[in-house]
Amino acid sequence: MNHPSPSDGREPVVRVEQLVKEFQRRDGSPVKAIDHVSFDVHAGDFLVLLGPSGCGKTTLLRSLAGLETPDAGTISFAGRPQFSPEHGVNVPPEKRGVSMVFQSYALWPHMTAFRNVAYPLQSRKGARISRSETARRVREVLEMVGIPELEHSHVSQMSGGQQQRVALARALVGGDSLVLFDEPLSNVDAKVREQLRVELVSLQRELGFAAVFVTHDQDEAMQLGTRIAVLDSGRLVQLAPPLEVYTQPANRYVASFVGTMNECPGRVTAVKGETAEVETELGTLTGRVSGGLSVGDRAAAMWRPENGTLTTGEPVAANRLRGRVKASLFVGAYTEQVVDAAGRELRVRSAGAALQEHGSEVWVEAAEADTLVMPLEDV
Ligand SMILES: Nc1ncnc2c1ncn2[C@@H]1O[C@H](COP(=O)(O)OP(=O)(O)OP(=O)(O)O)[C@@H](O)[C@H]1O
Ligand SMILES: [Mg+2]
Repeated sequence: MNHPSPSDGREPVVRVEQLVKEFQRRDGSPVKAIDHVSFDVHAGDFLVLLGPSGCGKTTLLRSLAGLETPDAGTISFAGRPQFSPEHGVNVPPEKRGVSMVFQSYALWPHMTAFRNVAYPLQSRKGARISRSETARRVREVLEMVGIPELEHSHVSQMSGGQQQRVALARALVGGDSLVLFDEPLSNVDAKVREQLRVELVSLQRELGFAAVFVTHDQDEAMQLGTRIAVLDSGRLVQLAPPLEVYTQPANRYVASFVGTMNECPGRVTAVKGETAEVETELGTLTGRVSGGLSVGDRAAAMWRPENGTLTTGEPVAANRLRGRVKASLFVGAYTEQVVDAAGRELRVRSAGAALQEHGSEVWVEAAEADTLVMPLEDV
C-alpha cells in the first residue's frame, strides 16, 4: 500500500500551536474544551490523547479532522496550514487527507464489508481509481485486518470486533499518512480489545502511518502509544513516552490518573538536592523531589504498588509504614495486598500467590528511589 511520507522529514506530520476552543453550556457559562494546546506528531508516531471524560479529547481530534472549527491557534499537516484564522485558512475535512475511526464505527450496516471499505476510494475527488484497482486494494486491506472471508458479509451481521476491523480497513484503504481514532475499541469485549490493540500496533508500525488515538483508558494508552499526551480540562499537562509518564509524572493529576499510586500527604521538613523528606501522619518518608518544593510546603510522598514490599517483621528501610491487611487479592500474575495504615489505604503488589491473612499486622516498605515527593495544592 501507498503510505507516502508527507514531508521530506523536516516538517512534522501534524503541528498544533496554541489551539483554543470554547463552548457555551446551556446556562451560557463557557467551557474551555481546548485550552492553548500545542504539540507535534511525527511520521511513525502513535500519539495517544489520554484523559477523563470531558477533558477535550474528541474536540481536539475533530479539530484535526476539520469537523470542528477552533477559536484560535493553528493546525498544519506536513508544513501546510489546515487551520489558520490569521491566513483565512480552514481546509474542509475531505481535503485534509486524513482518515478517522469512530467509536460507533460509522459503517453502513446494510452494505457488505467490501462496499464499506471501497467507499473512500470511490468517493474520492480527483484521480479516478479503476474498479479492478479498487477491488485489489479493498481485498488487500481486508486481508491485512484479518477478515478476508467477510468481504461479502453485511456489516449488520457482524460482531463488534469484526465491525471494528471493517472500520479500520476503511481508514487504511486510502493510504493516508495520518489516521485519527476516537475510542474505537471501547465497544468490544476485553479479550477482543486486547487482540485488536496488538494488531493495531503491529499494523501501524508496519505501514508507518502516524496515528492520533483518543482514549480514557490508561492501560490502552500505555500499550499503544509511542507518546502519551495527558489532558486535564482542555490543557495538555504532559507529553512524553509511556515510561516517562509512568515513572516521572508531571504532577499529581498525571500520577494518579495513570496507574495506581499510594499517597501519604504531609509537610516538607527537608530538601537536600534531589531528595525531600515529608512528615506525614504515618511517619517521615523520603523520596525524589518532583516539582518545586521548599521546607514547610504541603506535599505528598507517592509510590506505585509494585514499588512497595510487604513484610511481617519491621524493615530497616527509612520508608516503612505499619498497618493491617484489609484484603489480599490473588489476581493471577500477582497478588494485590490492600493495607490499612491508620485509616489510609495502601496497596502493595507482589509477584505470584502471596496471600496474607485478613487483619494480620504487617509493614509496608516503599523504596526511596521509587518514591516521589510532589507538591500538594494548598487548601
Ligand atoms: N457541541 C458542544 N456544545 C457545548 N459543549 C460541548 C460541545 N462539545 C463538547 N462540549 C464540551 O466540551 C468539553 C470537552 O468535550 P469532549 O467531547 O471533547 O470531551 P472528551 O474528552 O472527548 O470526553 P469523553 O471521554 O466523554 O468522550 C466537555 O465539557 C463537553 O461538555
Ligand atoms: Mg470523546
